[in-house]
Amino acid sequence: MSIRRPGGVLLGVVGASLAGCAGESSMLEPSGQGARHVEGLWWTMFWLAAVVVVAVVATLAFALWRRRQPEPDNEALRDRDDRVVTRMIILGGVVLPIVVLLPVAWSTIRTAQLTRLAADEPLEIVVTAHQWWWQAVYPESGAVTANEIHVPVGEPVRLRLRSNDVIHSFWVPEVHGKTDLIPGQENTMDIRVDAPGVYRGQCAEFCGLQHALMRLRIYADPPAEFERWVRQEAAPAAEPTAEQLREGQTTFEAQCGQCHMIRGTRLGVGNVGPDLTHLASRDTLAAGALSNTTYNLARWILDPQGVKPGSRMPDVGLDEDDIQAVVAYLESLE
Ligand code: CUA
Repeated sequence: MSIRRPGGVLLGVVGASLAGCAGESSMLEPSGQGARHVEGLWWTMFWLAAVVVVAVVATLAFALWRRRQPEPDNEALRDRDDRVVTRMIILGGVVLPIVVLLPVAWSTIRTAQLTRLAADEPLEIVVTAHQWWWQAVYPESGAVTANEIHVPVGEPVRLRLRSNDVIHSFWVPEVHGKTDLIPGQENTMDIRVDAPGVYRGQCAEFCGLQHALMRLRIYADPPAEFERWVRQEAAPAAEPTAEQLREGQTTFEAQCGQCHMIRGTRLGVGNVGPDLTHLASRDTLAAGALSNTTYNLARWILDPQGVKPGSRMPDVGLDEDDIQAVVAYLESLE
């Protein structure tokens, strides 16, 4: 590629990174104290890098210009040129890197300290990464959900990050930086979300075939609304009332119950896939791959490998009537 307009290329690169890293969410629009520190570090590094780019381009332009000048025929002038060259090498190769990299190192360490500010009694949520979805357990209340983590807005929350299989990375750019989830080790992330809303995130460490569709969301609710939500999620599933729903529950228990939990049922006790006790209260399915609609739910059960190739969810071979009953049952689980 010939670069006739380096300015345009630079603008393009900066624009692309500003446009947002994980879909619609950008770490340059922070809405949590952790993310604000990370944003500050980003700008420090951006401006330092910008100064370096300008200096390098200016030096290059100067060098190109000098090459067109005739060699000096005088000994003293050539010696002077050699001294200038030596000075530039020391300046550009030793002094400048130290001047640029020291502040970067200092602000990186400072940011790491600031983002680890712990509160006295945060709300704890145990987040366990699985290939390829997120389990969220609220030990205090007993609520369990998947991929959609609700938190009270403005209050300190501690995420206890674990992994069930390989290394994943928890990243909701507007809320905080990234933290790895490592098998056999628990990492923590202290967050506080400033404004109510839905914040999108993404697994940020390659973890296998469906890494790209291992999405998550943080819902920051006003405290009263959060209390209502957590109470509802902690409760067992409603007993089915209509005939079709009862059929759906029976089929679910027989075909899906070894992998999925529906609290309050006798045989829906699995712990391999997400807890579905209140599936109907979620906005998405399959770790954010689909919106939670009747059509998508049926499609996901009918052809999991078509929706997410490689996913651990098998096609259990339900017929049309079974699928209709199971979907109706799952949709009744508010
Ligand atoms: Cu989990 Cu990438």
